[in-house]
Amino acid sequence: ALTIIFNTTHPLSASAGFAILGGAITWELVSAFKECFVKANLTGRDLAKVDKPKIPESMGVICATVYLICLFLFIPFPFMEWFTGKGIISRSEEFHVPTFPHHKLGKFLSAMLSLQSMTFLGFADDVFDIRWRYKLLLPAIASIPILMVYYVNFGVTHIVVPIPLRFVFGKIMDLGFLYYIYMGMIAIFCTNSINILAGINGVEIGQSLIIACSIAINDLLFLNDADPAVEAHLFSLYFILPFIGVSFGLLFHNWYPSRVFVGDTYCYFAGMTFAVVFNFIYSCPQLFRLIDCPRHRLPRFNPSTLKLEYSRVKIQKPLKPLTLLVLKIFMLFGLAEINEVGENNLEINNFTLLNLLLLRFGPLREQTLAIFVMIVQILASCIAFTIRYRLTIKTVLL
Ligand code: UD1
Ligand code: MG
Repeated sequence: ALTIIFNTTHPLSASAGFAILGGAITWELVSAFKECFVKANLTGRDLAKVDKPKIPESMGVICATVYLICLFLFIPFPFMEWFTGKGIISRSEEFHVPTFPHHKLGKFLSAMLSLQSMTFLGFADDVFDIRWRYKLLLPAIASIPILMVYYVNFGVTHIVVPIPLRFVFGKIMDLGFLYYIYMGMIAIFCTNSINILAGINGVEIGQSLIIACSIAINDLLFLNDADPAVEAHLFSLYFILPFIGVSFGLLFHNWYPSRVFVGDTYCYFAGMTFAVVFNFIYSCPQLFRLIDCPRHRLPRFNPSTLKLEYSRVKIQKPLKPLTLLVLKIFMLFGLAEINEVGENNLEINNFTLLNLLLLRFGPLREQTLAIFVMIVQILASCIAFTIRYRLTIKTVLL
């Protein structure tokens, strides 16, 4: 791996270069465009501050645009060997006449098309405030380009089953057409996971950066010539490095106290690049309306202590049996706190990770809470690594 990382003629160094450049440009452009966004009324109120200042929102669109431009400019680099004639012929091609790898280019372009569609749809959401039930589908629509190109190019619809489930499904399962539905749902899952773990300064980008760095570290571990998956991990790195760059550029403006908000544009764009789990699962009872889901579930700001407290939702008795069951399970694991209000109302904490942390650790200041979320995210990455390497390790050798 080190030989690839320290080889300055490898496309990876170009990718790292674009990451740094993209970061600097994003940082600069966000300052330059702040006022335009305010003028266009793309703003939001910073709810966890005393004076609730009006702050430019949807800045993710700048970040995403710079990212896309970086990737477009990067396209020639992985194919450089075809132009310089130094052709590094890989082992499998040794006995064939090598032809230009159009499928590789196709894969790259389709991924970019999907990212571009997602940015567009995310921005539309920021501008029009699309209703929840439609908004949920946007990522599936945006993933159409990548899925279609996948269909015509490879069409492999097998997935490797995790070890604990193999006694039911076997080692490898062919999902057939369902594979495309499954991938579309993953896109919905990832993007919305980022979007619903939001509401305090810096959290959308902070969590995205930690996931992105985890993916990059995982890819770097695979960069050794003997590994058949090198290509795939390089491909992933080419997308992740510039993402890390531009996200840092935006984070400088978005960390506490925020001077700009990232908007849904950023959440969708980031989610399209990967996934978060816990907050989404925890939110399900509210997302699927077993329990009311208020417009904002972000923690409540207490102006007298300057701290955040967990926010609550009021529900009416009697409860539906399913709601009751979910609440009992949540209580069992210490995930919910229920209070009686008057004769026939109950008050429950909103089911988001932010509120859960406040419930467990008591009121915190906004920046402390953001740091707590980052720590949880790092722990989650460690668990993901354990699952990847303990529960599926044998498949690597498959
Ligand atoms: C999602 C969440 C909602 C949460 C909101 C906060 C679900 C189902 N929806 O809704 O509970 O309240 O994100 O982003 O879980 N804001 C701040 N400080 C920040 C970031 C955002 O005060 O650091 C506020 C601002 O008023 C901003 C607004 O949140 O304008 C953005 O909300 P929006 O992204 O439109 O909400 P949703 O994604 O629909
Ligand atoms: Mg949002």
